[in-house]
Amino acid sequence: MKILVATEKAFVPVAVKQIREVVESAGHELVLLENYKNVTELLAAVSDADAMIVRSDQVTAEVLDAAKKLRIVVRAGAGYDNLDLAACTAHKVVAMNTPGQNSNAVAELAFEMMLYQARNGFGGKSGSELRGKTLGLHAFGNVGKYMAEIAKGFGMDIYAYDPFVSGEQIKKQGIKVCASVEELYSVCQYVSLHMPANDKTRKSIGYDLLKKMPSDAVLVNTARKEVIDEEGLLRIFEERKDFSYLSDVEPDSKGLFEEKYKGRFIFTAKKMGAQTEEANINAGVAAAYQIADYFKTGNEKFKVNK
Ligand SMILES: NC(=O)c1ccc[n+]([C@@H]2O[C@H](COP(=O)([O-])OP(=O)(O)OC[C@H]3O[C@@H](n4cnc5c(N)ncnc54)[C@H](O)[C@@H]3O)[C@@H](O)[C@H]2O)c1
Repeated sequence: MKILVATEKAFVPVAVKQIREVVESAGHELVLLENYKNVTELLAAVSDADAMIVRSDQVTAEVLDAAKKLRIVVRAGAGYDNLDLAACTAHKVVAMNTPGQNSNAVAELAFEMMLYQARNGFGGKSGSELRGKTLGLHAFGNVGKYMAEIAKGFGMDIYAYDPFVSGEQIKKQGIKVCASVEELYSVCQYVSLHMPANDKTRKSIGYDLLKKMPSDAVLVNTARKEVIDEEGLLRIFEERKDFSYLSDVEPDSKGLFEEKYKGRFIFTAKKMGAQTEEANINAGVAAAYQIADYFKTGNEKFKVNK
């Protein structure tokens, strides 16, 4: 089988080496399309692929139309909002993600931003500590759990809200459960977002929730920019000088933040959450194993389309 790795933003070389080892030792051929510049290159490369590994690359109906032999596409990462799931199903392509493989990297980035902001960017002005501060985890999946582990080490007071995880499960890990999203935002000085971007969550974090946050509020977003209602966020920034926003995804109105709210935000230059050697290896190799296993045994454990 021909397994295409199509990455507009390439994996680190050591991850590619390990992916190749998994693919070739399973008797398949690896084809690389790295750092491609336009969709035409992707359409050409996918035309004879039996399987494809992608990162944040867009797998649209157009790509699937061009992929005449494709049987499986794996998003090496957690969020799969870049895959058109309905089109995958219509094309009889199995779509998978690799849950949990980059979660520690994302949680560390969230903390790195929190620490940098708490110390005013190490610029000489005295700052604050994380110990004893309230941290709200908005969603308690893989990244949320790593956040909780790190936050315990910092002595933070941790709360979580996740409508799909039982209170018992959250409590078992020594974390306080919030019965509603409003409660989480009312109680927590720091709120960190870890839900997927979908029809329910898009633009769900806006003015009404953010205005509930206690003083010196910090919103941390390593999830997706789509979950933020930017108009509401900008209104909060205008009304509250004590509000900061730390995000792994640049907002659409980045220029406005830079012009008016210096010192109150961090935006990574590009999505950095999973940009570690370890996360690249974990997610890339997991994707390769999932494909090899699917071809060998039909295992669909990580399938995300119907
Ligand atoms: N910045 C990055 O590079 C990067 C890397 C990995 C993941 N992510 C983002 O972080 C998100 C979380 O990653 P993860 O690995 O923890 O995923 P996960 O699937 O393990 O956890 C997602 C959690 O969100 C919860 N959830 C779903 N809908 C919700 C809602 N409406 N309200 C509250 N909670 C809800 C689910 O119950 C689940 O526990 C991903 O979906 C992705 O968007 C970003």
